Amino acid sequence: MGSPAWDCRLRFIARDSPAAYNACHFGPYGPRTVQHDTLGGIPLARIAAVYEAERESYLATHPRSLALAGHGIAGFWQGVPMHWMRDWSMPYPFLVESARGAVLTDVDGNEYADFCLGDTGSMFGHSPPAVAEAVARQAGRGLTYMLPTEDTIAVGRLLAERFGLPQWQLATTATDANRFALRVARAVTGRPKILVFNGCYHGTVDETFVRLVDGQPANRPGMLGQFADLTRLARVVEFNDLAALEAALAHGDVACVIAEPVMTNSCMVLPEPGFHAGLRRLTRSAGTLLLIDETHTISTGPGGYTRAHGLEPDLLVIGKPVAGGVPASAWGFTDEVARRLGEARAQLPPGHSGMGTTLSANALSVAAMRATLEHVMTGEAFAHMDSLAGRLEAGLRTVIERYGLPWHALRVGARVEFVCAPGPLRNGTEAEAAHAPALEQAIHLALVNRGCLIAPFHNMMLVSPATTAAQVERLVGAFEAAVASLTLPELPPGVLD
Ligand SMILES: Cc1ncc(COP(=O)(O)O)c(C=O)c1O
Repeated sequence: MGSPAWDCRLRFIARDSPAAYNACHFGPYGPRTVQHDTLGGIPLARIAAVYEAERESYLATHPRSLALAGHGIAGFWQGVPMHWMRDWSMPYPFLVESARGAVLTDVDGNEYADFCLGDTGSMFGHSPPAVAEAVARQAGRGLTYMLPTEDTIAVGRLLAERFGLPQWQLATTATDANRFALRVARAVTGRPKILVFNGCYHGTVDETFVRLVDGQPANRPGMLGQFADLTRLARVVEFNDLAALEAALAHGDVACVIAEPVMTNSCMVLPEPGFHAGLRRLTRSAGTLLLIDETHTISTGPGGYTRAHGLEPDLLVIGKPVAGGVPASAWGFTDEVARRLGEARAQLPPGHSGMGTTLSANALSVAAMRATLEHVMTGEAFAHMDSLAGRLEAGLRTVIERYGLPWHALRVGARVEFVCAPGPLRNGTEAEAAHAPALEQAIHLALVNRGCLIAPFHNMMLVSPATTAAQVERLVGAFEAAVASLTLPELPPGVLD
């Protein structure tokens, strides 16, 4: 079998010297460089050899996907309908035949225990029965009509009860919800800037694409067609740094701090004790609103990290899994924000608010959201997810310790992460430095070849209500096999079987 034309990733990884590696590896913030000939304690040459062996194994077991998509899918720029479909560890992505619960099947008949779960979109399992029924029911009644349904009434009540905020709006993506919520924050405070934590991701909201370079704010590299200086719209400080936060808010121009309560998008960074209390105290005293983005940390429990830890945001965003995999998001706010929003609106001339998309709050997504909130995101489901995620975290830690690796594992509820560097990480700069792209890529592919799928961008694993203990054991076993192949003195042929 010839090498697939699309095998761009391999060129990145088959490098065994720091110079060659540095010439072609890129991380989310730009070039990723290594100083030594190891990554995460593993020699670059061994990483390349393991990836090479895993790649051969993948090619042998995915011939149909290779024929259908391995050279790019015709009609799509760069061969994919969405650019991140090229970001997987595989030489080419497999085509999905079907997915149910926590099992995904590809067109070659391979089955995977799915711990990626659509990078959170399917966090509650693929096609939960209650959602599938609601979608089928609504499909016969019209899909979108720019008017509310009886499901809309239920959803308003359910969101308010669950997250403790009384006022809600619906959108289609978490990106949109964040964008609209930030606009409201600016409107009610009359302030121009937002504040983000270095290393954050809140979707493709322009002004959140800033980072710290040697302590100074700068646009994140890599943005296409972005000529504006985003630092004029946003301040950026490190997570867990209350002194820097206080100094940044002292300018009096920050409308809103937008934060994930646990940073989940660049490795995982937990809040240090007292950080959230300090964040709330400082934002209140500066007259700055606080937006908590629960899109990923909803993994904590039915009311997200906010409810589990008694946070008191002014605005809250939840996207991705809130309609069981049907595109939908929701953003909520306090009565006080609503009152000030009414005042701000009254001072403006009639005209477009700059918020809203036509298909938002459509009948199909609202039906799916109601089913998800009522029947899927239950306390019972979260208890199962939390317990199995605890087993997964413990299993990964045991392997890391057994092989004496300078790595760590951690989690926020049902969201587990292993990091190929020592921990705990305190902020975005440390999280960025902890990334080990080539090593992670080799491990991810080794897991795929052993029937386990994890999220492509970093080492994130999600446990769903449909996930079984056997699947968790399978993943821990696959992780150990990958670690063994990377660390054993010789590369034994059997270890890659
Ligand atoms: C915390 C957080 N907020 C918002 C988003 C954006 O979600 P979407 O891509 O569905 O708009 C993401 C995506 O990963 C996210 O992690």
